[in-house]
Amino acid sequence: MINNPFITKGYAGEALFCDREKETQLLLDNLQSGMDTVLISPRRYGKSGLILHVFDQLKKIAPEYHTLYTDISATSSLNGFLDAVSAAILSAFPQKTTLGKRFFSFLKGLRPFFRLNEKTGAMEVHLELVSQIQKEATLKQLLDLLENAPEPVALAIDEFQTITEYPEKNVEALLRSQIQHMHNVRFIFCGSKRRMMVSMFNDAARPFYASSTTLHLHKLDRDVYGQFIRRLFDEEGRSIRDDALEYVLEWTRCHTYYTQLLCHALFNNGAREITLDVVYAVCRDILENLSENYLLLREILPTQQWRLLTGIAREGSVKQITASAFISKYKIGSAATALRAVQSLEEKELVLKHLSVDEVSYEVYDVFFSHWLERDF
Ligand SMILES: Nc1ncnc2c1ncn2[C@@H]1O[C@H](COP(=O)(O)OP(=O)(O)O)[C@@H](O)[C@H]1O
Ligand SMILES: [Mg+2]
Repeated sequence: MINNPFITKGYAGEALFCDREKETQLLLDNLQSGMDTVLISPRRYGKSGLILHVFDQLKKIAPEYHTLYTDISATSSLNGFLDAVSAAILSAFPQKTTLGKRFFSFLKGLRPFFRLNEKTGAMEVHLELVSQIQKEATLKQLLDLLENAPEPVALAIDEFQTITEYPEKNVEALLRSQIQHMHNVRFIFCGSKRRMMVSMFNDAARPFYASSTTLHLHKLDRDVYGQFIRRLFDEEGRSIRDDALEYVLEWTRCHTYYTQLLCHALFNNGAREITLDVVYAVCRDILENLSENYLLLREILPTQQWRLLTGIAREGSVKQITASAFISKYKIGSAATALRAVQSLEEKELVLKHLSVDEVSYEVYDVFFSHWLERDF
């Protein structure tokens, strides 16, 4: 097995993590100065990786901190949220620590059910809570436990916008009312659904209004990323040609996950020198392997949405989705159809809407899918 330095999930230490120096510093400053941070970017830009990197750095400069990370994207109720937070506490505070002991004696009363997730190797917790009152009390007790920990705590909640989809309507207010009195715990609220995150934290009528500073995570700097990729090949006694590297960054649009995935595949390819031809061949393989998934998607998407998606892919990026030239070229029907379709594609996270000061543009969210759609078939 070759040890591939291009990671495609999680975090594997600073040597394999590219840049994010400013963002890391800001998050470290916020955590230590008592400020909560909202971290927002499209999916797969590197938010979760950044959090793990920040926690890794924090351990070095302030080892007294306890760092807790939980991804709540798979939860669908307050109960699921409590399970996720409990699991994070469980993994941060082993049973023999003071807080671990307190946590376990608290849990005992709630008839917890433990299960090892075979895929991730993480311990999962399920609490059998029946009434709303009991759930609210448990939330308060869990947070109190952290607030009363002897050392400071950093708690990152990933895909935080998920709480707005819970059937219990008051979770946002409930959480906010608890959190605003906490001093020992600093929060990082992370999310990829920009519109939901922004309205949660910037709408004066919402509980979390003006409670934290917001960090919008952008793509990695192209030159810095290029140097990083070159270094990782160099360190293995291999090289990548300039034109090949340019193509890699261009083809993956510098979208972290896709760039990592392509570099991972290039590394596995084994060529001592990565040339443009090697890159072309590996890109072709990637698209071929994904073909079946994409064909399945075509089966389930309405025709107009499929056509719109293909149109956006072939144009690369589209500013005016309702322009008549665009609509007739891709046989979308009418401007109203295009608007409805793009909205639906956005909700399904198949299309990504970019906002800048004076314009809006749409891209296919999944970079590989975008290239696959560009081809004739
Ligand atoms: N700065 C970085 N350098 C190298 N790889 C990264 C970096 N940030 C993220 N990654 C990798 O890119 C992929 C997507 O990152 P992730 O953190 O999961 O994105 P997000 O949480 O925004 O959806 C993961 O495989 C991750 O390991
Ligand atoms: Mg993530």
